[in-house]
Amino acid sequence: MTQTDNHNAPILVTGGAGFIGSNFVTSWISNVGTPVVNLDKLTYAGNLENLAQLQGNPHHIFVQGDINDRKVIDQLLAAHQPRAIVHFAAESHVDRSIHGPEDFVVTNVNGTFHLLEAARAHWSKLPEPQKTDFRFLHVSTDEVYGSLSATDPAFTETTPYAPNSPYSASKAASDHLVRAYFHTYHMPVLTTNCSNNYGPFQFPEKLIPLIILNALAGKPLPVYGDGLNVRDWLFVLDHCDAIREVLKAGRPGETYNIGGNSEMKNIDVVKAICSILDELRSNSPHRPHASLIQYVKDRPGHDRRYAMDITKINRELSWSPKCSFTDGIRATVQWYLDHSTWIAHVASGEYRNWVEANYAKRG
Ligand code: NAD
Ligand code: TYD
Repeated sequence: MTQTDNHNAPILVTGGAGFIGSNFVTSWISNVGTPVVNLDKLTYAGNLENLAQLQGNPHHIFVQGDINDRKVIDQLLAAHQPRAIVHFAAESHVDRSIHGPEDFVVTNVNGTFHLLEAARAHWSKLPEPQKTDFRFLHVSTDEVYGSLSATDPAFTETTPYAPNSPYSASKAASDHLVRAYFHTYHMPVLTTNCSNNYGPFQFPEKLIPLIILNALAGKPLPVYGDGLNVRDWLFVLDHCDAIREVLKAGRPGETYNIGGNSEMKNIDVVKAICSILDELRSNSPHRPHASLIQYVKDRPGHDRRYAMDITKINRELSWSPKCSFTDGIRATVQWYLDHSTWIAHVASGEYRNWVEANYAKRG
């Protein structure tokens, strides 16, 4: 295989039926156009309806499977000879990690370990130039850096790790394993740490879709604590662009922070959604939607503020976010208004049957 041929080789994506993964797979196929092998266990967070627009597209090869299943990964690597692995699969919700941390260790720590081991076994036997060109890109979070006060400088790639929730601790552990595979085995890995994503196809357990859906239904809008916690919001398609840039030109062994340059207090995010809905749903009996806001008991160990310094990715890869929060949140609210069937299937759990109906003979 020549170098040019290798660039046409597929990539293996894990967790590509989740929120960010499905946006990534779809945007990869439309921007890059080479095949994607999509390995996803289809937990409650995996939804093949997120990938409905790729139905029948031969460049999308979906495989239901677990990143802890070494046999499945070995088979996929041998059969498809991907030039890269982009690893999204994870348990991703902080509140769930507080109620039940075990799944987070099993998937985020053990799963990443098994994927790394399978990748190493495969990569170490590759001939050149495929061996040098191979990449393992690990998608992580800003939460590994802990919590900032209002006046602290933003996280950089050298900020010491200080995870505070079982979720962020499990992601931090996986980041350390990925780092070790570079230093010990010289496997060409890349790690990206990104801030809070939002956009189409986000499961309505996370703040933004939860608030949109509750407001549409006239249900209370739960704001934890005093509502003054700050997150840096990143539009999901900007994140997908950044990952493609890191994959293309990131330096093996390096980590890259990815953020949206959009720090917002939670209460301001909630109010922004309410005022967009007041405008777009001017006949709603629930107007003004902000009257549905309810302050509720705080999340235990709730990190106060996250903020990302994105100087490095901007300097090395010329990436910066294109979408402002004002534009991104409007587009996101509009997307949920336009996708009532997706919402209904998620709310009823019917999206899980969709798998059988639409993908039974595709594996
Ligand atoms: P998500 O919860 O929406 O999707 C996770 C996907 O992984 C699901 O499709 C699920 O079925 C799959 N999965 C879970 N366990 C698996 C396993 N054992 N084997 C195979 N597949 C499995 O998550 P997301 O929000 O799309 O996040 C994707 C990645 O980005 C995660 O690694 C997360 O830690 C990271 N991240 C997310 C955010 C965010 O704001 N959403 C921010 C920073 C980092
Ligand atoms: P979330 O979307 O769960 O992401 P993360 O915890 O990974 O940052 O929450 C974003 C912020 O919104 C976080 O500070 C917790 C807060 N939050 C609420 O105030 N109410 C809610 O119902 C949820 C789900 C989150």
